[in-house]
Amino acid sequence: QKGGYAHFMLKEIHEQPQVAREVLHMLAGSTEVKRVLDAIRNARQVYFIGCGTSYHACLAGSVYFAQLAGRAVIPVLAPQFIPQYLPAVNKQDVGIFVSQSGETKDVLNALQAAEAQGMTCLGLANVIGSTLTKATACWLPLCCGYEISVPATKTFTNQVVTFLYLAYRLAGRDTRPLEDIPALMETTLNTAAPQIEAIVPAINPWNDLYCLGYGATYPMALEGALKLKEITYAHCEGMLSTEFKHGPLSAVTENYPVLFVTGPEDVPLIVSGINEVTCRGGRAIAIGQEDSRLRANASEVITLPEASPEISSLLSVLPLQLLAYHMSVGRGYDPDFPRNLSKTLTVD
Ligand code: M6R
Repeated sequence: QKGGYAHFMLKEIHEQPQVAREVLHMLAGSTEVKRVLDAIRNARQVYFIGCGTSYHACLAGSVYFAQLAGRAVIPVLAPQFIPQYLPAVNKQDVGIFVSQSGETKDVLNALQAAEAQGMTCLGLANVIGSTLTKATACWLPLCCGYEISVPATKTFTNQVVTFLYLAYRLAGRDTRPLEDIPALMETTLNTAAPQIEAIVPAINPWNDLYCLGYGATYPMALEGALKLKEITYAHCEGMLSTEFKHGPLSAVTENYPVLFVTGPEDVPLIVSGINEVTCRGGRAIAIGQEDSRLRANASEVITLPEASPEISSLLSVLPLQLLAYHMSVGRGYDPDFPRNLSKTLTVD
């Protein structure tokens, strides 16, 4: 069942290129995509709504929609999407409800509240036949097959691929460059795996670390931090890189690990953050494309293949998934079934 991998999580991490290929193929032939795009074009305001990892995909989607298509979208954590916080929502608005399971109670509550206010509700779900797919007039499947491991990996990247595809279509862009994603994911996994395994022994003794990103890599930093917390039980805080100097910088001591996830266009900004950490003796681990400025300033660089900034941001989450996985295993935990958690949260 684990296909020769030690854990479902590692198997599912390595399935990402294949499921990305499948979702791109599905999206290219889907009539529902046009319905989703028409609804977005005609909407007064668009919201992306989810929890946990699915919320991070909503955040990434909102960045791509703004950057690539000039369409402002409000990403919302599902429990905040209730009438007393969003009284202005009405039938001119569109919400895309995002959930791997399609059964998360917080998401279904938000959906019910939105429907009561007449909003057009669309879905993005992995489990076909789930409550979310039955309750939305129009939904898109994530095409990932079963995701058994509690930490979401392949469903996250396919949520992001779907938002990227929708942003390209909304912008009237040729979507063919997105077909490179599966091969780029394969390259990323192959090159990052040994680099990640090499840094785990130095990072794993720490029970407190930061994961920083900027722009399109900010949601990836949040997602990496969530993965680390979920399966290593360490505290890892995801944050916008520029916020670090506004307080958390005081945590840095000798070798204190700070992960910096960067897109190719954000390197100068990230390098200044890196220097604030290294000059205080901290360990700055950069995740980005090969760049002499990162090499010269970071303690280590985990290299990503060359790609457009938006595809690069998607790729940057793969090393973070691997890092969380190897730290968890290194600590003697089972990353598939972290304590206190279940795959689907059907309670308020
Ligand atoms: O099934 P959903 O996508 O609605 O689940 C939402 C969260 O519970 C889920 O993403 C959770 O954060 C993951 N276990 C994180 O890996």
